[in-house]
Amino acid sequence: MKKVKIKSPANIAFIKYWGQRDKKLFLPFNDSFSMNLSSCYTILEIEKKEDPKIQKLYVKDYEKDNFEIKTDDSFKKVLTFYHQAKKFLKVKKDYGFVIYSYNSFPKKAGIASSASFFSALALGFSWLFEKKLDKKNLSILSRLSGSGSSCRSIPDGFSWWYKGKKSSDSYAISIAPPSYWDLVDLVLILNKKEKKVSSLEGHIMAETSGLFKYRLLSLEKRLKEIKKAFFKKDFTYFGNLLEEETISMHSVMMTQKPPLFYWSGKTVEVIKKIIEQRKKGLEGYFTIDAGENIHLICQKKDEEKFLNFLKKQKEVLQIIKNYPTYGTKFI
Ligand code: PMV
Repeated sequence: MKKVKIKSPANIAFIKYWGQRDKKLFLPFNDSFSMNLSSCYTILEIEKKEDPKIQKLYVKDYEKDNFEIKTDDSFKKVLTFYHQAKKFLKVKKDYGFVIYSYNSFPKKAGIASSASFFSALALGFSWLFEKKLDKKNLSILSRLSGSGSSCRSIPDGFSWWYKGKKSSDSYAISIAPPSYWDLVDLVLILNKKEKKVSSLEGHIMAETSGLFKYRLLSLEKRLKEIKKAFFKKDFTYFGNLLEEETISMHSVMMTQKPPLFYWSGKTVEVIKKIIEQRKKGLEGYFTIDAGENIHLICQKKDEEKFLNFLKKQKEVLQIIKNYPTYGTKFI
């Protein structure tokens, strides 16, 4: 086979990864927990070339008609990962490759586009180097891409990333299949523009926040509690922890040096509206990754009511409906 096609989802973190205790191996300070998203994914096609000099990346962005060749930073990251993968897989021989990648959603907007892309590429490179990895090792390889959270897109459904003691035990596993809980993630697009500071740059400065060590202390309890809430399917308990966690991570971001404000005025307006709806009996909770856009988490039974409400809000440009889904796979 000279060519394969891979599909990999983005994921939304319920408990987040922010800051790296090892900046070369992308080892996190804490465990994190996420859900794979059904409508936010990367489709990646990789073709093998015997001539190692042929190394090309074509990307078709969201709402674009054509693939564009990349020679910028995104291509450099792919090359760096190619060498990481070669080392990890203990391969001597070089191969050429041509990659076509398409994203079903806006990139660099807090919807984990690097997670879906690099998890797909981890599977792509393991195929290129003719190594069949189990999910654990694929998750480790994906983490080494630099997008640490991509390791959580590899397993199915709901993923738990163990921080581990060393590189070989820092990986994600599935703690429940997609069918386990009918949660819905309504991604509320408030701004389609790309963020100015990537999470890769942001992670590096996390420890400069005076709040960072308190966040780590509070996480020990929150991690235990969220697992409990999840396995009891106690949505109220779960949702409150989600919001607490979001505010905790963004407080660190805003107090690190230099400060990082991913939220905009629109983000705050929509947060207030979600809280207001909850008081009126419509139960949903917000969570936000490294971007301005909001993920509204609700139960399937309330999806339509939320859609009706959110469609009318002036801040919301678009809504992407997501359900829990499978991890990285060949298609
Ligand atoms: O994996 P990275 O380097 O793209 O960082 C992801 C960081 C957050 O999205 C903010 C949190 C997370 O755990 O997904």
